[in-house]
Amino acid sequence: MRLWLVVIWLFVCAAALPGGEQPLSRIAIENTTLAIDDSVHIKASPLVLGLKGENSEWVEVEFFHPNPSDDDWIGVFSPANFSGAICDPENEWQQPPVLCTAPIKYQFAKFKNDGYNRSGKGNLKLQLINQREDFSFALFSGGLLKPKLIAVSNMVTFANPKAPVYPRLAQGKSWDEMTITWTSGYNIKEAVPFVEWGAKGGPRFLSPAGTLSFNRNSMCGAPARTVGWRHPGYIHTSFLKDLWPDSKCVVYLVSLTCFEIVMHPATKKWLLNFFFRYTYRLGHRLPNGTQVWSKIYSFKASPYPGQDSLQQIVIFGDMGKAEADGSNEFNDFQPGSLNTTNQIIRDLKNIDMVLHIGDICYANGYLSQWDQFTSQIEPIASTVPYMIGSGNHERDWPGTGSFYGNLDSGGECGVPAQTVFYTPAENRAKFWYATDYGMFRFCIANTEEDWRPGTEQYKFIEQCLSSVDRQKQPWLIFLAHRVLGYSSCTYYETEGTFEEPMGREALQELWQKYKVDLAFYGHVHNYERTCPVYQSQCVVDASDHYSGPFKATTHVVVGGAGASIADSAFTTSNIQWSHFRDFDFGFVKLTAFNQSSLLFEYKKSHDGNVYDHFTISRDYRDVLACSIDNCPRTTLAS
Ligand SMILES: [Fe+2]
Repeated sequence: MRLWLVVIWLFVCAAALPGGEQPLSRIAIENTTLAIDDSVHIKASPLVLGLKGENSEWVEVEFFHPNPSDDDWIGVFSPANFSGAICDPENEWQQPPVLCTAPIKYQFAKFKNDGYNRSGKGNLKLQLINQREDFSFALFSGGLLKPKLIAVSNMVTFANPKAPVYPRLAQGKSWDEMTITWTSGYNIKEAVPFVEWGAKGGPRFLSPAGTLSFNRNSMCGAPARTVGWRHPGYIHTSFLKDLWPDSKCVVYLVSLTCFEIVMHPATKKWLLNFFFRYTYRLGHRLPNGTQVWSKIYSFKASPYPGQDSLQQIVIFGDMGKAEADGSNEFNDFQPGSLNTTNQIIRDLKNIDMVLHIGDICYANGYLSQWDQFTSQIEPIASTVPYMIGSGNHERDWPGTGSFYGNLDSGGECGVPAQTVFYTPAENRAKFWYATDYGMFRFCIANTEEDWRPGTEQYKFIEQCLSSVDRQKQPWLIFLAHRVLGYSSCTYYETEGTFEEPMGREALQELWQKYKVDLAFYGHVHNYERTCPVYQSQCVVDASDHYSGPFKATTHVVVGGAGASIADSAFTTSNIQWSHFRDFDFGFVKLTAFNQSSLLFEYKKSHDGNVYDHFTISRDYRDVLACSIDNCPRTTLAS
């Protein structure tokens, strides 16, 4: 009987460690034993953070353990009274564990403390972000698999833990609407959420915000429902409407004068960026009439669909999050994710929108990580629309309707992703949507739900591709997380398909019929560009410059934004359609100069330099011109 209990416990533990990409899943926190030792000390300072309104601060943790060992580690817990958390056993045979909550981050005591193994003394500098609760620091011996809790520090807190934080912009459902989503500790009974905004230097407007949240019961399994659970706070979204498009007309100070500036597109863009922006701040009105404010941020409204102006879009998948203090290092996540984020921040003045096509933060059921991710991307997402797609690490869970029945979401089954980020989807749980940015039309599919003919999603894809006026919006882009098109990574070679099984079989006819210029995918953690390809054949040779009529779609895998690239090697076979490969961290930038000229650049994350590029020159008559399988029948009558 006892052995059977152990077997059941091991099964539950194994089920709590899906994917392996989440560093916190390395800790068997449910195996913790209590062994508080008065001779062990740990303390953290300063006690109060964010006194000047900061939402991220460094904390110094000092500790002493008279019997140190190599695998002693420090866990950061929030709320601070973590051992008071109560959880039910997963089944009637199980005992509830001593600790029911995973830390939000951890580091080994010996990290940058060379003498720790001899002296038992050490200190760590850790970065904390404001995430609605106080913090404490716990010292464990026994390594990550048999943790023994030996000391707990004093409490550390932000001055206002409930403060509105980490705004994320997203395109609305209409061209003149921008949505702002943020997180706070205020539910709607405590305070009224809103955004104060207006053109820089002009009158201010107030827009109300809707509030969403979710609870442990919305999670589909462990660890999201067990040790990984942490309350997500309250997620507010405000819809700013009737915006003036970014460069055709602008709100000029208070006079609301609409005018046209004739100058070089880059100069014009710089001027517009500098002068003609909307500024905003997030607010909560408390019952006593006082108001709590965030910092002031700014953004530029999106262009009218079809507007001819300089437009620059960044695309990548699988970025994940990483910690600047070196904590949670696992599986080589650190260099890519932070490098990609920092390169985009550096180039932000030359970026209009970001598309992150799935595998967003790899929280994998450790919900605290969504805060950490939104904090990491705050400089980007608070300034330009940050549009996400759904990946396996957001959605997949057995028996919940996901197309794949694996454990990759760690029990989240899509709930945090669809709540923490706004998408202009008809149904945010389904995650497929269209969004226009000037001369671009983006059709974002969801590979974690069925896309084959006869499904709701297939109808959406055809509707999205067919409903765009290509004279005004010539640049038609398809995006999805898993590789529905082409990838020569060994994983898909083993599948025997060089694609996600059943991926392009039906979709390639749509891409060809509707003359999709580019299709982007993540999931595979590398970079690869094909020739213009149809039915696995290069329709034209790959090139650095394409001109004249559309021939076939160019497929791009750009899943190397941050997650470990270790398992994403390319096949050694010679693949005719595979034109350029890079086994490194990177992302893509598209620049539409006008309706005839598009620049594609692949940049590495570590230096931001361009390692692959091509241009497309195409007039409208070229878009109309027929190629293989993409023109309707004609009659000989005249
Ligand atoms: Fe993935």
